[in-house]
Amino acid sequence: MTEIANVHGRRVWDSRGRPTVEAEVQLADGSIGRAIAPAGASTGSGEAVDKRDGGDAFGGFDVQSAVAAVSGEISDALCGVDPRDQVAADQTMIDLDGTPTKARLGGNALVATSMAIAHAAAAAEGVPLWRYLAGGRQDFTLPLPEVQIFGGGAHAGRRVDIQDFMVIATGAETYTQALEWTAEVYRAAGVLMADAGLMQGVADEGGFWPAFETNELALDYLVRAIEGAGFTPGDEMAISLDIAATDFGKNGRYRLATDDRDVDSDALAEMLLGWLERYPIVAIEDPLGEDDHDAMAMFTAAAGPEVEIVADDFICTSASLIEAAHAGNACNTALIKPNQAGTLTEAKAALDAARAAGWESIVSARSGETEDVTIVHLAVGWGVKQLKVGSFARSERMAKWNEGLRIVEALENDRLPTRESFPWGRNG
Ligand code: PGA
Ligand code: ZN
Repeated sequence: MTEIANVHGRRVWDSRGRPTVEAEVQLADGSIGRAIAPAGASTGSGEAVDKRDGGDAFGGFDVQSAVAAVSGEISDALCGVDPRDQVAADQTMIDLDGTPTKARLGGNALVATSMAIAHAAAAAEGVPLWRYLAGGRQDFTLPLPEVQIFGGGAHAGRRVDIQDFMVIATGAETYTQALEWTAEVYRAAGVLMADAGLMQGVADEGGFWPAFETNELALDYLVRAIEGAGFTPGDEMAISLDIAATDFGKNGRYRLATDDRDVDSDALAEMLLGWLERYPIVAIEDPLGEDDHDAMAMFTAAAGPEVEIVADDFICTSASLIEAAHAGNACNTALIKPNQAGTLTEAKAALDAARAAGWESIVSARSGETEDVTIVHLAVGWGVKQLKVGSFARSERMAKWNEGLRIVEALENDRLPTRESFPWGRNG
């Protein structure tokens, strides 16, 4: 018998030293599944509520009520439910919560439990989660890593406005090689920064915390790091950016503090389009604020179909927001973060909506992470071509990249999706 016998909530700590929710699902057959909720710093307004206790302890970030909900109400409601029926289990929690934003029990309580249910079901079946999620599909590839080299925005005290300066090993043939190339670029960037006296440590996701005078200087250093590591910019290692523009603008007005400039939507778009021309950028996330729909659509049209215009805050891993964004041609790629949705079922529905729209998709971690590696299994099991986990440092990041290497071994296959299957490779 594999029904759920008990769910236990536990308060654990994330990579920023904040409390977070771990759920442990125990089945009647003795199988166990465990998962931990991540948390974001630059959150979109449509996200499932990350429930915190407020008050004095830990800056108000304690999660005692969400943890209690897991061990109490959620456990009671899920007892006897078949964990292999993820949709029914998640719906039970959604109904129990009863709010549109999961504010009552907490999106953090729900997502930890939802992922733990999947782990428990896979354990009961005796297969790894990635294989369980694939439901018999056999054409596995590893996801192409998108890796932060410099961290900015909310992750680095707003030292630069742009949040993520990342690289993608577009020329790598295997997952292992993509990590090797990325390691060389990360190292080269560190040496460059230290030599220039611009290194101020590492940001929340492990990228270097840079003392750049302008946002664009980060792009120059990124190109130099790629070349310094012996790669051809654009061909072997390309650049991707997360502007996270919602964090520094609203109502079509943006404050670029690093550059000491106030700009409107058109001027911000123009600056970014200029970067697309001058630098080997293949993906750009949240180029405009979550409220700036028309400007997003104009930007996406101007950038052209070979660039991934990634929506994060703009769509918040929501199938209905993705459908609306698709109707308005606002972007062409979805960032999929399970905790924005609150359950695996809803995250998968968002992925399916993105696929139905003909978009690319990227499974993503948050800035507040832990040793939990569930998202790597989601990317492989759901057949998502890209994975964004932050940088190539700090164990909460490396745990994910390393889990991919274990999957390579188990699969006896180190294959990435072909270059031609990506927007930047389709014109050749
Ligand atoms: P967050 O940022 O996890 O701090 O929200 C990650 C991102 O914007 O992609
Ligand atoms: Zn983002």
